[in-house]
Amino acid sequence: MTELRVSDLTVTYDQKTILDVPHASFECGRIYGIIGPSGSGKSTLLRVINLLTQPASGHLHFFGVDVHLPSLSHREGLSLQRQMGFVPQKPSMFHSSVFDNVAQGLRYRKLPRETIRIRVEDALEKVDLTHAANQMANTLSGGEMQRIALARAMVYEPVLLLLDEPTASLDPSNVAIFERVIQSIHAMHKTTILMVTHNLAQAKRLTHACLFVHKGRILEASDTEPFFHSPETQEVQDFMAGRMIY
Ligand SMILES: Nc1ncnc2c1ncn2[C@@H]1O[C@H](COP(=O)(O)OP(=O)(O)O)[C@@H](O)[C@H]1O
Ligand SMILES: [Mg+2]
Repeated sequence: MTELRVSDLTVTYDQKTILDVPHASFECGRIYGIIGPSGSGKSTLLRVINLLTQPASGHLHFFGVDVHLPSLSHREGLSLQRQMGFVPQKPSMFHSSVFDNVAQGLRYRKLPRETIRIRVEDALEKVDLTHAANQMANTLSGGEMQRIALARAMVYEPVLLLLDEPTASLDPSNVAIFERVIQSIHAMHKTTILMVTHNLAQAKRLTHACLFVHKGRILEASDTEPFFHSPETQEVQDFMAGRMIY
């Protein structure tokens, strides 16, 4: 089936289970919001899916490919990882120009030079950074770096895009650009997108469905409309009302 699914997932640090997800599935081509208090395991869930954190147990079903995560080989992992784009909460820039930062992933994939130029220019235009192509990436503002990270992740047209609080530290104009780009990526490529966000209005604007993570468990998962208007659990109701104790 063409979907993303995790099952029997547990992540343990120092004998403490910080993520316990018996089952979670994401339909191809939808945008999902991942919501929940700090320290609940949201980033860990994204990192497991991006194969950056190896869980104690768990299977990943990646759009038709099934892998047992604890025994996944580096080579097998790499071929899946290359189909995903990941924008971490605080992206770091390569010590090179904006253009080269965005081109890097395509060079790894050994695409023709001209194809790389066209794709990078297109990605830079989308994130509104054409004018900065030759500037050193680490001289840009935080908001601009976040947009480069997004350009870097989308330029190779991943089937899955993972975004970890991408707009948490951005001013409103950068947030608006970011949201517009996400919508246009989705409209053009029907990319499946998982986005951790603390911004509930943003989740309402962008997502089709939401998951609520609390103490390492997914307490609630539903389409965005019912998620916000008729949450089932007390925890989600409290979180929406600003009563959630951290
Ligand atoms: N590498 C690690 N070593 C030990 N504990 C970790 C590690 N990474 C995350 N944790 C712990 O796991 C829990 C979930 O973290 P995280 O997934 O970053 O939460 P969130 O993104 O929801 O804020 C937290 O209690 C955090 O301290
Ligand atoms: Mg986090």
